[in-house]
Amino acid sequence: MAEVVDPSSFAAFRSCRIKHLNLKLRVDFAIRVIGGRAALTIESQQDELRELVLDTKDLKIHKVVVNGQETNFSLGETHSFKGAPLKITLPCELMRGQDVIVEVSYDTTPQASALQWLPPELTAGKKHPYLFSQCQAIHCRSIVPCQDTPSVKQTYYAQVSVPKELVALMSAVHDGEAPDPEDSSRKICRFKQSVPIPSYLLALVVGPLESRKIGPRTTVWSEKELVDEAAYEFGETESMLQTAEDLVGPYVWGQYDLLVLPPSFPYGGMENPCLTFVTPTLLAGDRSLSNVIAHEIAHSWTGNLVTNKTWEHFWLNEGHTVYLERRIGGRLFSEQFRHFQAVGGWKELKDSVGTFGAQNPLTNLVPSLNEVDPDVAYSSIPYEKGFAFLFYLEQQLGGPDIFVGFLKAYLHAFAYKSIITDDWKNFLYSYFKDKVDILEKVNWKAWMDSPGMPPIKPEYDMTLANACIALSQRWSKAAHCDLCSFNAEDLKKLSSHQRIEFLALLLQEEPLPVSHVKRMQEVYNFNAVKNSEIRARWLRLCIRCRWEEAIPLALKMATEQGRLKFTRPLFRELYNFDKARDEAVRTFLRHRPFMHPVSAMLVGKDLKVEPAHSTSF
Ligand code: BES
Ligand code: ZN
Repeated sequence: MAEVVDPSSFAAFRSCRIKHLNLKLRVDFAIRVIGGRAALTIESQQDELRELVLDTKDLKIHKVVVNGQETNFSLGETHSFKGAPLKITLPCELMRGQDVIVEVSYDTTPQASALQWLPPELTAGKKHPYLFSQCQAIHCRSIVPCQDTPSVKQTYYAQVSVPKELVALMSAVHDGEAPDPEDSSRKICRFKQSVPIPSYLLALVVGPLESRKIGPRTTVWSEKELVDEAAYEFGETESMLQTAEDLVGPYVWGQYDLLVLPPSFPYGGMENPCLTFVTPTLLAGDRSLSNVIAHEIAHSWTGNLVTNKTWEHFWLNEGHTVYLERRIGGRLFSEQFRHFQAVGGWKELKDSVGTFGAQNPLTNLVPSLNEVDPDVAYSSIPYEKGFAFLFYLEQQLGGPDIFVGFLKAYLHAFAYKSIITDDWKNFLYSYFKDKVDILEKVNWKAWMDSPGMPPIKPEYDMTLANACIALSQRWSKAAHCDLCSFNAEDLKKLSSHQRIEFLALLLQEEPLPVSHVKRMQEVYNFNAVKNSEIRARWLRLCIRCRWEEAIPLALKMATEQGRLKFTRPLFRELYNFDKARDEAVRTFLRHRPFMHPVSAMLVGKDLKVEPAHSTSF
């Protein structure tokens, strides 16, 4: 396989590789620090290896011991988002294939970008503090010195000391717990991940968690206030897992648990192995947002088994995952529903290309991330351009049944490995060797190496989408005197997925006159809707149409939950409304100290606010 450089890492992973991480962590809420000792088993990939380079970010390194011998180390210059390289001199040269154990003693700092520390007031129960991590894409280095690149995979074992009234969980299988011999107010929880994983899948949560078993291999975890709701909402998990296994082969991770985080969790879901993290904004009450669970389940194969070698090839993770997510939905609901989701995805892609600009190199399927922060580059492009490409190939190469054969063989061929787009493409050509004539007709350059929209639109069944298009067109074409023709019945015929799509379509049109959105509120009462996907789009629409009364509602949603998919567009919409701009900026500044570090950084950029000086906690 081709040699590649990872522009997002300083680690010298061509000369050596971490095979195993043995972690001892002590979580200290009072000072917001994790005290750590990481013992890394490293295998040399070359002869005469004398030096190691690891990634770190905001870590205080106390001591480095190699094979029992204390050794010299130095931290290089700090890069704005990559952190600082940790250079370790080996006491003796290593030959290719030889192992060493490198023990690093360190402390994290309160501004660690992988962590959010919540005081009790910001939790549902208001009694205990809460800590969670989010390592993807390049934040693991702020909690563990490591080779923070998805091209390296390692197993791990962890012993975590936490206050004994709290629960600690990791992206691994539990391996028991015991009182902390050094402190009677604490306990030590042990975890084991015996499948090799990239560093971005390391995860930790510590908080007042309760659990409910909802399937043979699934327990949901959350604060007690949400656990029953969550148990109902995610009741389809086992059937989704079985559907995925039926499509692409056995689930290798043993347990599949779900953790519902506090509202500031910045993503919809995160595929931490054995323990998917999800936002509480999925709790719609009717299971209608369960595609996020299907998506994270799908990552158990696409991403967690077959992994992008660098973040430039992120579409391999996310495009294939969206494809598998929609195949799961297609099986559980209907093929028409799969097409409906695919139509929504194409529209999402158009929106993203529109926001970036059709010439922007970040709209390439495989963008260059040289000196680009992956969090800043993050968008729907790798998801939806990637999905559209696979959906198009499915149609060219003989349909869903044939294409899933390819997907399964691809996952089998590259399981436990990290790959680049050329590896995928070469495998596609070898799998479809009797259809090379078809593959030769694909416009590879336009799909893979060009910015903007794809050269061809796949074919979609429009049955479920048409009702959304018809109603949105009625509204966007309505004259003032037509407003009385709308009534609550219009919406009764649409499922909650279709309502989301209806609002998404209106967001693509020229803003409606404010009288229209007022009438829409009268007849549909969207202000009373709790479903986060509907609510976020509705409030964006109101602000876009310059309805002043919606400003406080939009600010409330933007700050009461922190899912970037909602919070960023809401803040951006408010910023673009002259009557809301100052208040949006003031509200952001007031909330920033309590926000997730990544959200604070991204919303700050959107609102053109100077970065905060790191406050001493
Ligand atoms: N792995 C991603 C989340 C992520 C990506 C976090 C990059 C940090 C950096 C996760 O699987 C994901 O894609 N979540 C989506 C789900 C959606 C596409 C169904 C989300 O958060 O909205
Ligand atoms: Zn994903």
